[in-house]
Amino acid sequence: MAEQIVIRPARNISGSLRLPGDKSISHRYAMLAGIAEGGTRLENFSTGADCASTLNCLRAVGVEWERAENVVTIQGRGSRWQGPTLPIDCGNSGSTMRMLSGILAGQDFSSELAGDASLSRRPMARVITPLQAMGARISADGSHAPLRITGGDLKAIHYKTPVASAQVKSAVLFAGLFAKGETGVEEPVRTRDHGELALRAFGAEVRLQGNTASLVGGQRLHGLEATVPGDLSSAAFFLCAAALFPGSQLTISGLGLNPTRSSLLDLLGGMGVRITITQLEEHHGELMGTVQVQGGELRGVVIESPYTEKLIDEIPVLAAIAPYSETGVEIRDGRELRVKESDRIAAVAANLRAMGAEVEEREDGLRIPGKQSLHGAEIDCFGDHRIAMAFAVAALRAEGETVMKGADAAAISFPFFFEALESVAQR
Ligand code: S3P
Repeated sequence: MAEQIVIRPARNISGSLRLPGDKSISHRYAMLAGIAEGGTRLENFSTGADCASTLNCLRAVGVEWERAENVVTIQGRGSRWQGPTLPIDCGNSGSTMRMLSGILAGQDFSSELAGDASLSRRPMARVITPLQAMGARISADGSHAPLRITGGDLKAIHYKTPVASAQVKSAVLFAGLFAKGETGVEEPVRTRDHGELALRAFGAEVRLQGNTASLVGGQRLHGLEATVPGDLSSAAFFLCAAALFPGSQLTISGLGLNPTRSSLLDLLGGMGVRITITQLEEHHGELMGTVQVQGGELRGVVIESPYTEKLIDEIPVLAAIAPYSETGVEIRDGRELRVKESDRIAAVAANLRAMGAEVEEREDGLRIPGKQSLHGAEIDCFGDHRIAMAFAVAALRAEGETVMKGADAAAISFPFFFEALESVAQR
């Protein structure tokens, strides 16, 4: 993918798309396949570099897999992995590092998880604290990667997570598979439940009660065949692009519609975008279907907890289209956005300002007035895939051309994003 990409304004967004597999589900299916008994075959596996990092980490602990295009077959090793000889490279992927920590905490060897510069700045105490409480020995650079984990002999805990994080929930539940007794994770806000659904798909019993998910240790997992639904967080860029133009008509088929992930559809509906869902199916507990959107008016909205948490990956693109809305968009309770692949509050504010928008940056959010006209500009993607894709969308309704610097960051979750966007951008 080119490092610099130029986006020209569009007339509307029309056409049909089918998107690569969901990143959150692909990570979890791959990891659980590694500790399952027997083989697993995954179709429509995420094409993103993050999920490739997970597969590479699995190879480092002796899990064998093959990939042909987007079909991945994984040979499970059962609950015992092989101690790695070198540090395991998680690349840019926080999901890989945090969730893999949970499984490594249950292995009776020592391992080291490392990541790139961005990942090495991200908070890891959120997984270190519960995994240490379960009995794993973990040392880190402060609370940052690299993490050195010596696992084995875990005991179950009931963990109340101070941050709403599905990665932390999955990490602790994955460790719980290796613990004696019943491990529970209680969240302040219910986050995406792909970990719980994936555990069940691989044959584990998981109990759900309110905001607590729990499982008993010692359960064995069995390999499966699955198709990963299209990634709704990738679809968000196209849905928001369509929302910018009253004449848009876009269809996305095979899309993941898990209710813990699909708040964006309700939100866009409330903003005036017409959305129709058809062909609903369920695969291993995950809903998928076809989404049709028609642009209409674009009203403003206030996004606050618990929706900020539920929309956490969609906030950059919602902020990027906010100036074009009637009454503007306010985002509250989003402090977590500052510790993603980049400081997404600062990155959004800087790029909106570069395009001529007025923005109020707050510690935990943004206030972006509506009815603004933006102009093309030079965009800094801050090495962050979602910032790159969000501003490619904002550029579609700006006046003049926008130059995206570091656009190749999009490959972290969606290598062919710009080609897909061109295929539906009508001019
Ligand atoms: C993810 C959870 C979210 C999200 C990330 C993927 C997951 O992170 O931002 O892109 O797959 O569980 P947090 O768990 O840090 O909120």
